Amino acid sequence: MDLERLLTDRLTPAFTAVAGEPVAPVVRRSSRADFQSDAALALARRLGRPPREIAGAVLDRAVLDDVCAAVEVSGPGFVNLTIADDALAAMVAALAGDDRLGVPVAADPETVVVDYSGPNVAKEMHVGHLRSTVIGDAAVRLLGWLGHRVVRVNHLGDWGTPFGMLIAHLVDLGEAGAAQELSIGDLDGFYRAARSKFDADPEFRARARQQVVALQGGDQEARRLWRLLVAQSQRYFLTVYRLLDVTLTEDDFRGESAYDDRLGTVVADLDRLGLLTDSAGATCAFPPGFTGRDGAPLPLIVRKGDGGYGYPATDLAALRLRTGELGATRLLYVVGLPQRQHFAMVFAVAGQAGWLGPQARAEHLGFGSVLGPDGRMLRSRAGESVKLVDLLTEAVTRATALARTKNPELDEASAAEIGRVVGIGAIKYADLSTDRTRDYVLDWERMLALDGNTAPYLQYAYARTRAVSRRAGTQVGADARIVLGEPAERALAFELLGFAAVVDEVARTAEFHHLAGYLHRLATRFSAFYERCPVLRADGELRASRLLLTELTGRTLRQGLHLLGIRTVERM
Ligand code: ARG
Repeated sequence: MDLERLLTDRLTPAFTAVAGEPVAPVVRRSSRADFQSDAALALARRLGRPPREIAGAVLDRAVLDDVCAAVEVSGPGFVNLTIADDALAAMVAALAGDDRLGVPVAADPETVVVDYSGPNVAKEMHVGHLRSTVIGDAAVRLLGWLGHRVVRVNHLGDWGTPFGMLIAHLVDLGEAGAAQELSIGDLDGFYRAARSKFDADPEFRARARQQVVALQGGDQEARRLWRLLVAQSQRYFLTVYRLLDVTLTEDDFRGESAYDDRLGTVVADLDRLGLLTDSAGATCAFPPGFTGRDGAPLPLIVRKGDGGYGYPATDLAALRLRTGELGATRLLYVVGLPQRQHFAMVFAVAGQAGWLGPQARAEHLGFGSVLGPDGRMLRSRAGESVKLVDLLTEAVTRATALARTKNPELDEASAAEIGRVVGIGAIKYADLSTDRTRDYVLDWERMLALDGNTAPYLQYAYARTRAVSRRAGTQVGADARIVLGEPAERALAFELLGFAAVVDEVARTAEFHHLAGYLHRLATRFSAFYERCPVLRADGELRASRLLLTELTGRTLRQGLHLLGIRTVERM
């Protein structure tokens, strides 16, 4: 158990007895002692007693001798707690002997559907899809590690009216030509060419319309051409996933088309529940609480005037399948913030229909934009949106060059490997280490810096722990006695004990920047420890203890980075 919680558990009954009412003594790390609670200050006014007196009474009652070496009232009425070295050492030793680094498997495993990545067929993935893929991948890893049953869903945009023009364009190019164009990953070129013909040429437009009708009517030939487009695009997306080193596979594609035959039922059922109204020819839901600027209720269009279904109907059908048939109790949608209202309305309607509720919750994990150095939306020099593969390739190239400059003796293969791990890690970490609801600037210098809150800094810290272990020669047993004397040693120990709490928090909130911040703090503490506490030059018990702390730090860094989808190397 983490120390904040342990101390809170010990102080709560004492505070509650003194106050005569339930009190939550917020226990925090403190620079004055190891931990501090300022709950007495907040209570003073309510109880009409001086805070120091309250704090004193609490300390008289609280059972702390087995954990604390010193307890005192300080300043205006803080409770200061200093953890006993042997208690701290015992906790660290328990951690060292635990494969899971103190992180328990979930007591009530859930079925969690994570909807992420979701690129669109015959369209380039953009940085928004990058963010979704990276954040979703981290969610999948973390929840899976905690023992939840995680279902990955790649809600591919593979259906709808644009496919008429895409198929018509494919027919014009000939299958071989189209396949060639798509396989080199020039999806945007393909899409743009189709679009401009559609805009300029009425004859093409007519053919495009016929193709949509044929496709939706189940025409064999139209379906075959459509499948070709989908397959080529999927193949391309998979190369991006491989480069990005994420867990998405081809089995995870569950495109919008997969729900096509359910849309009618979904709308009919919503109608039966009295949730639908005709509005200007379209069939709409008006979930309570959603109004436009003019105060009028906002519609969620479930069937368009022409009888077609769109994005909202598909999401309703997908949601119903996930909670109803897959038995999911938690749904995560990793999609950019511009779609916030869409998801809020879909969830509201699903709630009215009983497809969501206390038994199954849905969360939109929205995220901000990636900005260029000029603080505007990231664009290529030609002013187009940046191609994802180019971005990834540039990261790897830069990281490889950097690895070579830092270490000229590196052989080609190692430099390439380090470049890949560090370059991709840096991109992912830059994303995951900022509050996901905020925009962030893609700044190569900063994200590849060897110091600061960056992937390379953490990967380097990990490699350093490995180097120390290698040089020590002997394997330290996980049963080595932990000796804690130096402040830097204790600070490292406290940080190591905090891993479980941060993992637990992130599992609830999907705010991965807290895990990133934790790992950065841990690496910083390790660095201070390493500077002040000789490891290899220490003797006997102290040496073994410090080696164990070093290894435990390495394991925690590696596991934490792994949960973020970031790899490590043994040497850098
Ligand atoms: N294809 C969509 C886009 O590019 C993202 C899909 C998100 N998932 C969903 N269930 N709507 O914006």
